[in-house]
Amino acid sequence: MSIASLTTSEKPEPTSSREILPDEVYEQLLSQTSRARKSAPIRHLLHLESCPNMLSMLAGKPNPEVFPYVSLSMTVRSPNPAIDSSLNEIVIKDEDLSVALQYGITSGVPELVKWLTEFTCRIHGCQDDEGWRVSMGAGSQDLLYKAFSALVDPGDAIFVESPTYPGIIPLVHSLKCNIIQIPSDAEGLNPSSMASMLENWPEDKPLPKVLYTVPFGSNPTGTTTTLARRLEILRLARKYNFFIMEDDPYFHIYYGDFPRPSSYFALERKIDGPLGRVLRFDSFSKVLAGGLRLGWVTGPERLIKAIDLHNATSIMCPSVISQMMVYKLLQNWGIEGFLTHATHCADFYRQKRDIFEKYSQKHLTGLAEWITPNASMFVWMKLRLPESASAKTVKTVTEGEGGDSAAFLEHKALEGGVLLLPGECCYIDGKKGCQVRLSFSVLSEEEVDEALGRLAKMLRSKD
Ligand SMILES: Cc1ncc(COP(=O)(O)O)c(C=O)c1O
Repeated sequence: MSIASLTTSEKPEPTSSREILPDEVYEQLLSQTSRARKSAPIRHLLHLESCPNMLSMLAGKPNPEVFPYVSLSMTVRSPNPAIDSSLNEIVIKDEDLSVALQYGITSGVPELVKWLTEFTCRIHGCQDDEGWRVSMGAGSQDLLYKAFSALVDPGDAIFVESPTYPGIIPLVHSLKCNIIQIPSDAEGLNPSSMASMLENWPEDKPLPKVLYTVPFGSNPTGTTTTLARRLEILRLARKYNFFIMEDDPYFHIYYGDFPRPSSYFALERKIDGPLGRVLRFDSFSKVLAGGLRLGWVTGPERLIKAIDLHNATSIMCPSVISQMMVYKLLQNWGIEGFLTHATHCADFYRQKRDIFEKYSQKHLTGLAEWITPNASMFVWMKLRLPESASAKTVKTVTEGEGGDSAAFLEHKALEGGVLLLPGECCYIDGKKGCQVRLSFSVLSEEEVDEALGRLAKMLRSKD
């Protein structure tokens, strides 16, 4: 028996009656680095330790008898503390503690992966025999980094929503690929420019491989892509053979109209055609805790395997203590409890959004224009920048549409005691302009009133 024949895949072969993209499609899609990546031998064999009657001398696992931790206890709120203020004590001990304190399987604690698989089936209306699986990662940022590395070679063309999540800009630049920005507006990502670009794509150039998008409450615009647009984007993906990287940390912080649009992962299943074109990124950061550093990726087995192989040689496995903390909570709450909690989070941010909107209208009417968000924690604003800020930065201001919000930040806003993100940080090409991203997640009502009042004063200032 060769080591290579011992597969680490925990899932059986797909049995779904739905057509699924064949493995060759993914082999061609993968980057050269990813195709060349070998499995880490110990990681590759580690799952076999759980076989019945196995005595393992495989890994250099430290003996837990020398670990000082005897039990871990957490006091947790009810899923909706707004209506039930009771607290619950959860203790991680015995076998669970041994698992939590030890190195774990690269793809994640199996019980947590199983929970998330059932959750995915429930939320996205899919079956677990359709050639996809879930794998854990050290936050979705790290999973995105590994997914981009698995898919993109230097010189490849990729589509990126514009403006986009600032956290991926240095990442995609480092890939030395051809990044094509696709504009978004109040209805989210707009497929029309993508369609005309693809129709006129030069025959001698390979088509774009992937689209990166944040479909709910986009960071930085706070907008959600409409169902009609998602369908059109999926239709284009199938016609022109690109894959959709659906980065969805704000899925549970949607407070717009219902029914909410389906995720791309769910939508694939609702329309005819082969499955396997969507790689989905979820995060516990926004609804449980950012410090857990836990996210999960869902998608075609071959692409998940490519990410797992990378993880096996970098982090080895995401923090098992974090995974156990999350699993014990989810086990205690159940899927219903988690969904109740998610609704509570969305209500919380809706109230924050309403407060921000109220004070934006009070202070900034006539001084700024903005799109009212329907998910997440960001407002994208176009500021009417003062002449004086322009005068100090004549050179850059003439380059930017409506002025230069970075210069405004440097020369006016900071001095006035307000910190915000200049719009240029959200454009792949660093395009200057009068846009800014404002985050309304942590300020109290009084602080929002004060902050937007200060911003208005600096926008009016003639100094
Ligand atoms: C769109 C988007 N993707 C990914 C992330 C990173 O999430 P995580 O904390 O899971 O790494 C963030 C965090 O702000 C985000 O806004």
